[in-house]
Amino acid sequence: MGKKGTNIVEVDVSALVEDLNRAFCDEWLAFYQYWLSARLVGGPQSPSLAAAFRKAAASELEHAGELADRITQLGGTPLMNPGQWQEKANCSYSEPPDDPREWKEMVKNASDGEVCAIEVYQGLAKKVRDGDPVTFNLIVHILAEEVGHEELFENLLRG
Ligand SMILES: [Fe+2]
Ligand SMILES: [Fe+2]
Repeated sequence: MGKKGTNIVEVDVSALVEDLNRAFCDEWLAFYQYWLSARLVGGPQSPSLAAAFRKAAASELEHAGELADRITQLGGTPLMNPGQWQEKANCSYSEPPDDPREWKEMVKNASDGEVCAIEVYQGLAKKVRDGDPVTFNLIVHILAEEVGHEELFENLLRG
């Protein structure tokens, strides 16, 4: 990042990079959970459920990329080892149920995951609101999309 860009960051950068890396892990786990769910989901509504999972998965992958770019800009390094994703993540990974017809469980897990993501980004937004407007802007953008995902999955549960 350029001198002025670095200069305007008034938060503890190493702590911020740590927080962003935790969120980065959440995004990869959510991406994988939805990517897998899109392929495994069964039952009468499966094409529309698969489409919803695919849509959310694409969005989580985009978030992972946006977080990685900001981490790099701040002089940090995105977590290099996927083996650390579960250990570092804020939210838990929910393995899809063995029976693919258990679509409600899959969607409920996704909805719960979004609740966790919303809490994480809300907390992050509060931390950087005054000290790092660029990260704040990114977090608010991601937060808004997580709110949309929660709504998407809740609506599927309602049927
Ligand atoms: Fe996300
Ligand atoms: Fe999400």
